[in-house]
Amino acid sequence: MAKYKIAVLPGDGVGKDVTEAVMIVLDKIKLDAEYIYGDIGWEFWCKEGNPLPDRTIGLLQETDSCLFGAITSKPKEEAEKELIPELQGTGLIYSSPIVGLRQKFNLHTNLRPCKAYSGNPLNYKENIDLVIFRENTEGLYVGIEYYPLPAEVRRVLLKTHPKMKRFENVDPREIAISLRLMTKKACRNIVREAFEYANRFEYKTVTVVEKPNVLRETGGLMVREARKIAAEYPGIDLWETNIDAMTMWLLKNPNDYGVLVAENMFGDIISDLSAQLVGGLGFASSGNIGDHYAVFEPTHGSAPKYAGRYKVNPTAMILAAKLMLEYLGEMEKAKKLECAVARVIREGKVRTYDLGGANTSLEMANAVAEYL
Ligand code: IPM
Ligand code: MN
Repeated sequence: MAKYKIAVLPGDGVGKDVTEAVMIVLDKIKLDAEYIYGDIGWEFWCKEGNPLPDRTIGLLQETDSCLFGAITSKPKEEAEKELIPELQGTGLIYSSPIVGLRQKFNLHTNLRPCKAYSGNPLNYKENIDLVIFRENTEGLYVGIEYYPLPAEVRRVLLKTHPKMKRFENVDPREIAISLRLMTKKACRNIVREAFEYANRFEYKTVTVVEKPNVLRETGGLMVREARKIAAEYPGIDLWETNIDAMTMWLLKNPNDYGVLVAENMFGDIISDLSAQLVGGLGFASSGNIGDHYAVFEPTHGSAPKYAGRYKVNPTAMILAAKLMLEYLGEMEKAKKLECAVARVIREGKVRTYDLGGANTSLEMANAVAEYL
């Protein structure tokens, strides 16, 4: 029996292309693993009304970790139109399966490294080395939303909050609400993960990215908890920045920053920005990590127009596999894989279109595999 059981969920669009590419690399590195493919994504939404079928949840429960490609998601109304006729009008609402997985398996920590590998022509500056810790289960992503505003909610808000008065006479069909729910536990947890990482890999600062001057309660909670945790790590400075200013500082002085920590939505925003600083989403990998399970994925989406054309850069997916190897404790293999990726980028002989080349995703993966 293999040492590890790994669930592989290619998803749709280029998710399939980059999954094929990463398997070339994993085969070459000889991880002692059994790979079990599972269903997720748009196809299953259209056919079954559920992009994350129960059998896939079952598969994940039986495996050690999961490699996930990408999925297409569309706004509510468009999603409904693509259901098979039998399922239309049944009240099914599309929701993102990756967000679902993060919450279902309590994958509370989203680790998103953004490193400028030398020789990458797309680097914004040299030596950028950012590591984002994004809280992965709460904030605006809890999915508690209202439209139109229900009468009970309206009543409670009017009773408990003076700021609601301004909307007293607004028609409920003119109001939508999304709740930003954050717990102390999750804030403490994500900040601790960030500090532990900074400590282990010798980063000098952890920057908490929030907006407590406006979001006094949720933002305030995060920053206050961050200060308490930071006090336990005297060798590492806690920097506090507002999300808006942070986007500006990241462009101006990306080399000043190391580990960044944020709640779900702000983490989502700074991780795309940081990815662009080191070559774009083709280089951005992501680990959704909980206490008992983890899902590794490229940060990019399914890019439907490139589906099946093997055009996209598989590096993000390959680096996701590197994060998975670290999670499994296969440190040597992880290091070897990162070195091989760095070498292919440095040499620049094999390049996908984003890098100005004409090589396919599979050729790039083969080039990495060559150095393993
Ligand atoms: C990401 C993606 C997802 C997110 C989408 C696909 C729901 O943008 O992993 O960053 O917003 O978390
Ligand atoms: Mn995102």
